[in-house]
Amino acid sequence: MKVRVWDLPVRLFHWALAACVTVSIVTGLIGGNAMQYHYWSGYCLIALLVFRLVWGVIGSRHARFWTFIHGPRAIARYLRGDDPRPPHLRLGHNPLGSLSVIALLAVVTLQVVSGLFANDEIFNEGPLASYVSGRTSAIFTFYHTTIGQPLIYALVGLHLAAIGYYAVFKRENLVRPMLTGDIDTVAGAPAARDTWAVRLLALLILAAGGVLAWWISSLGSVGGY
Ligand code: HEM
Repeated sequence: MKVRVWDLPVRLFHWALAACVTVSIVTGLIGGNAMQYHYWSGYCLIALLVFRLVWGVIGSRHARFWTFIHGPRAIARYLRGDDPRPPHLRLGHNPLGSLSVIALLAVVTLQVVSGLFANDEIFNEGPLASYVSGRTSAIFTFYHTTIGQPLIYALVGLHLAAIGYYAVFKRENLVRPMLTGDIDTVAGAPAARDTWAVRLLALLILAAGGVLAWWISSLGSVGGY
């Protein structure tokens, strides 16, 4: 039977996140005039991350962090092929996949925060760079360009490799549920609430994240533009 696993807000969040991270990478590599888009995608990421953080607490069942944060013992058992969850609860991120989800969310958040304080000492500076000392800004810049960037490449690569692994070796299509929201599973599996009221609430949270991003952007004169 089909059960809703990913509510519409989580699905839209996911594909918007993937799009913004891609735009940020491409525009960051191009530099020059493309940096304006780098800033904009960064501000969109702030709104998206604020939404996901709040949704991880008050969102629908499988979006909540407590439903997919597992301890090392559960992860070790899962790796041995012994999933501690009863079949009707094997929905949402699996114990191992949840590690990569949390790492991705954390690393993208660190990348956005470090970008706000970074500056390249020529044209570009994040809107909060002038609020910290030159040395602190240099540390954020070092993280943003030398540590965070390759970390994101590695985690996105791992994420895509894991999805490919599930498709090829486990014959499990994880991408379809992230598009349609539904998964084929056993009876009794708890569905995610995905009503229009839930979606409206998600939109309001995203809008609040957008206001925060706009306010942050107004704090500095960005990039000499
Ligand atoms: C820059 C690119 C990407 C980033 C940063 C990213 C990040 C994420 C994050 C944070 C989640 C957790 C969703 C949540 O609970 O909120 C997730 C899940 C997922 N992503 Fe991505 N993603 C990217 C690209 C892709 C692409 C290109 C695909 C498809 C080929 C994909 C397929 C999936 C799937 C299927 C899941 C659900 C995994 C599961 O069933 O546990 N992602 N991704």
